[in-house]
Amino acid sequence: TAEHGGRFDDHMGNEIDEQPAVAARVLDAFAGGIADGSLWRSLGLAGFDRIHRVVVLGCGTSLHAGIAIGRVFSDLGHLPVTALVASEASSFVPEPHTLVIAISQSGETADILRALDALSFPDRTLLALTNNPYSSLAREADAVIDCLAGVEIGVAATKTFVAQVMTGVAVALSGLCGSARVDRVDARAALEALTETPLRLDAALRGWSDSIPLLTEEFADASGFLFLGRGSGVVYAAEGALKLKELTYRWAEHQPAGELKHGPLALVENGTPVLAVDVGDRRLDINIAEVLARGGRVVRIAGVGPDPVGDLRPAPPWGPLEAVVPLQLFARSLAIRLDRNVDKPRNLAKSVTVD
Ligand code: AGP
Repeated sequence: TAEHGGRFDDHMGNEIDEQPAVAARVLDAFAGGIADGSLWRSLGLAGFDRIHRVVVLGCGTSLHAGIAIGRVFSDLGHLPVTALVASEASSFVPEPHTLVIAISQSGETADILRALDALSFPDRTLLALTNNPYSSLAREADAVIDCLAGVEIGVAATKTFVAQVMTGVAVALSGLCGSARVDRVDARAALEALTETPLRLDAALRGWSDSIPLLTEEFADASGFLFLGRGSGVVYAAEGALKLKELTYRWAEHQPAGELKHGPLALVENGTPVLAVDVGDRRLDINIAEVLARGGRVVRIAGVGPDPVGDLRPAPPWGPLEAVVPLQLFARSLAIRLDRNVDKPRNLAKSVTVD
């Protein structure tokens, strides 16, 4: 691994490989405090039932992690959730009894630190979810949780994304389990799905390894990519597009698949690559058929491998976390094919401390 040596020459490859172990580490640390609500209480947060709204705050990949985490509060906790791009936080209208979850790998991102000023209103609780519990963000927060990813060297966030989602979901489920207004059956099923995640990440790493080189060759000359999803899959489509852009310098955009017909379908022509994150919403098939009818080339990301037969199960509220694996692998593989430096993409920095 990047921390301990690994099978690749680049850090990113090794950090992708580490993800099942990172997810298992998060579970070891936090899963025991979910069912009895003790993880939530140990953070010193107000009782779950006193929260009226959740704001997830972040930039880039960390914002994507926040959106995935936010779905646990909305789907299972029936709380309104706002996802806030940190650099746009000044337009937020404060409300009492809001839990703000600020998600930042580095804890030093200037946009996040500035956003905290805009979000300093009475009755606000700030939970920092970070890979650096000694960071500036952690110092500002009412409560801090370390996402335990270990040092990430590649500029592209990979294992920290997985660690953030796992940690944030653990905290959310712990709060929910201590709440009167939550369906225990749903919470138990979610905990079970979270527990399976290391295995699913591992299966995805193995399941996709043969087809990624083939997809890389097929799309080596493509100038633009579309990433689609529905429901909890949308944010993984967003993460796939972000990884592809930052690593390959090729254009990529993501859309909720239903939006295709409202404009982006005009981009699709013969051979246009379309990567679709499938969470079992059959309306996606209609969207995919529209793409195929125009000669687009569709890669369906469902289950833990390119052949999902026998593996289709409904995604948990935070979505199919293992779907990020093929998206990361593809972006890295195409970047290497195009002779890019996957650990240090041009124009980007690991920690963005300017406005
Ligand atoms: C993702 O691969 C990027 N490195 C970037 O989007 C990153 O997630 C963003 O800059 C936020 O950084 P942070 O988590 O340290 O706040």
